[in-house]
Amino acid sequence: MKFEIVTILPDFFRGPLDYGIVRRAREAGLIEIAVHDLRDFTSDRHKTVDDRPFGGGEGMVLKPEPIFACVESMGMASQEQRRAHESLETVVLLSPQGRMFSQSVAQELAGLKRMVLLCGRYEGVDERVAEHLADQEISIGDYVLSGGEMAAAVMVDAITRLVPGALGNAASARQESFTATALNDGSLNCEAPDSTCASGGLLDYPHYTRPAEFRGAAVPEVLIGGNHEQIRKWRRKKALEKTLRNRPDLLEKQPLSSEDKRFLAQIRKL
Ligand code: ADE
Repeated sequence: MKFEIVTILPDFFRGPLDYGIVRRAREAGLIEIAVHDLRDFTSDRHKTVDDRPFGGGEGMVLKPEPIFACVESMGMASQEQRRAHESLETVVLLSPQGRMFSQSVAQELAGLKRMVLLCGRYEGVDERVAEHLADQEISIGDYVLSGGEMAAAVMVDAITRLVPGALGNAASARQESFTATALNDGSLNCEAPDSTCASGGLLDYPHYTRPAEFRGAAVPEVLIGGNHEQIRKWRRKKALEKTLRNRPDLLEKQPLSSEDKRFLAQIRKL
C-alpha cells in the first residue's frame, strides 16, 4: 500500500509515522508513505495555496489548482476512469463533512494499492476538489480539527495495522475492539486454541500484567488460575460489560450467542 499525503504542513508528518508498527511496516516495505508539500505545486512567487471565499464569510479556502496539480503529477487514472474500473487507487479528502471512518472502512481501504490523502486546512477546501478530484470524503469523528493532517495520520496508522504482515501476531489484530468475528451461522468465531475468544465487534476486555497486586489492587483471580475456559468466559463477560456501559449501540449490531445473552442478563442485574 502506498499512501500519498498532500499537505501544506509536510513537517507535521515527521514523527507520528516514524514509530512502532508504522515504522516497521515502512522498513519492511509493506507500506510506503510519500508526503507532498502543496506549496511545491503553486505557480506564483508567494506560493499561494489559499484565497478568500466567494460569497464572503470568515477565513480562507484552499485553492483547487495546486491540489489538482499535485494529484495529477502522481500519474493516476482520472476520477472518471477510477470510478469506471473498480480502481485499486483512491483519492480521499479529509474533512468533517465526510463519511465516518471506522474499523470496517479501514478494512475496506486496506485492500487498495494506493491512497491519496488530501489534508484540508483553513475554513475549507474548494468544493471542486470533492466533486472532480476526490473519490470520497472521510471524517474521523464528529469534531472539527484544525486540519486534515491529524486525521490522515490516524487513517495511515489504522490501515497499516491491517496490511498483512504489519502486525507480528495476527491474532492481536483479531482480538482487538471492533473486530467482528461472527460466523455465518451467527455463532462466534473463537477458533484459535490459544485464543481467549475474540470480542467480536465489542469493546476489548481488560488486560493485566505483573505485578499481581499493585497499590492494593489485585489482578482478577481467574486470570492467574490458568483455566482457559474460565478465562475465555471471564473475558467475554467483561467485554460485554464494558460495551454495555460505554458503547451500548455496538450491542445492537452484534450477533450474540446464548452464552452472551445469559452474561448480559447477569450484568444487567448487577
Ligand atoms: N479536518 C477537520 N476536521 C476533521 C475531521 N473530523 N475528520 C477529518 N478531517 C478533518
